[in-house]
Amino acid sequence: MATVRLSTLKKVFGTNAPAVDVDELKIENGEFLTLLGPSGCGKSTLLRMLAGLETPTSGRIMFDERIVNELDPAERNIAMVFQNYALYPHMTVAENVGYPLKKRGVPKDERTARIAEIAALLKIDMLLDRKPRQLSGGQQQRVALGRAMIRNPAVYLFDEPLSNLDAALRSYMRNELIRLHAKLRGTMVFVTHDQVEAMTMSTRIAVMEAGCIQQLATPDEIYERPATKFVAGFVGTPAMNFIEAEVVPDGATARIKAGDFTLDVTQPDGMTAPLQGPLTLGIRPEHILLGQGTDKAEITVVESLGNEQIITIDTGRRELVLRSTSGEKHRIGEHVTYALRPDRLHFFAADTGRRIGPN
Ligand SMILES: Nc1ncnc2c1ncn2[C@@H]1O[C@H](COP(=O)(O)OP(=O)(O)OP(=O)(O)O)[C@@H](O)[C@H]1O
Ligand SMILES: [Mg+2]
Repeated sequence: MATVRLSTLKKVFGTNAPAVDVDELKIENGEFLTLLGPSGCGKSTLLRMLAGLETPTSGRIMFDERIVNELDPAERNIAMVFQNYALYPHMTVAENVGYPLKKRGVPKDERTARIAEIAALLKIDMLLDRKPRQLSGGQQQRVALGRAMIRNPAVYLFDEPLSNLDAALRSYMRNELIRLHAKLRGTMVFVTHDQVEAMTMSTRIAVMEAGCIQQLATPDEIYERPATKFVAGFVGTPAMNFIEAEVVPDGATARIKAGDFTLDVTQPDGMTAPLQGPLTLGIRPEHILLGQGTDKAEITVVESLGNEQIITIDTGRRELVLRSTSGEKHRIGEHVTYALRPDRLHFFAADTGRRIGPN
């Protein structure tokens, strides 16, 4: 297994803005790192540069102490699993899994033993004689994984490998991958635009926008202390509510004015700057409390999910989305009061979108 290090890595296609522009990224040995971001943000391009399928415009890629920029994909000892896992249809499961070893001229006995080992690990040992068309989507995915694993690669690269599967199977495969990573302790780089996949599987997440990494941190850190408004809005469902506000500092207190309501907050500890001027206030749906405080609103949308309700309220000035898990069944048209939890506010600079606190 390898440590992967990128420095000042750039990929520019034609005259467009850079598809990837990463100053520094170190993926630790044995880490499960996810590249998360919207369509077109450069995730696949970055992964393909790691694989050697795309040549960087500038910058350096290192596996451990070795610069791999000039190495062919075959020389990098990586295993790649794509969304369309492209099994060979005319080969059996065993032949598919063992193919990378056969290509390298590994003797048959050794191959068979290794196939059996991998198949047992992935629980496909009873499928070894079948052809891919006789398998379910999840089984095919596991065969593709087996084919990737059989060579003991230095780095695993996954590009949205679960996005073709239905919801139940996706959740099952997420689980399998978590288990597999715990067992193999491989260095894994996983690309997805699905935040649930990113949050549940990763040791760390790199959130990307327009080719750049906006934040690199653990899933909890990303959720609790998003570094930018973009990250805050991208991670979390329903998305964080944003309110444009004006701050009037007053000693240890800052009075936040947002049109229809005024909020007095103590200057939180660990702010990078005093709360002042225009800013964006962020609050997650689960931190808006229904039936509390004195601010009034009307319920305009109710989405019932069985165990919880996602509720949109109209405060007269704006709409806010909140999550109610109280079990009480709310209805459209209901008049309610609400309160924002003061200890769960996020503040972002109005101009740059950078987090200004609390830390
Ligand atoms: N071969 C290419 N030639 C020109 N532009 C490209 C090429 N490959 C990718 N791009 C552009 O680079 C940007 C990043 O593309 P990339 O495929 O890395 O995005 P992505 O984050 O993987 O998106 P998705 O989630 O849709 O797969 C996009 O604007 C894309 O149009
Ligand atoms: Mg992609």
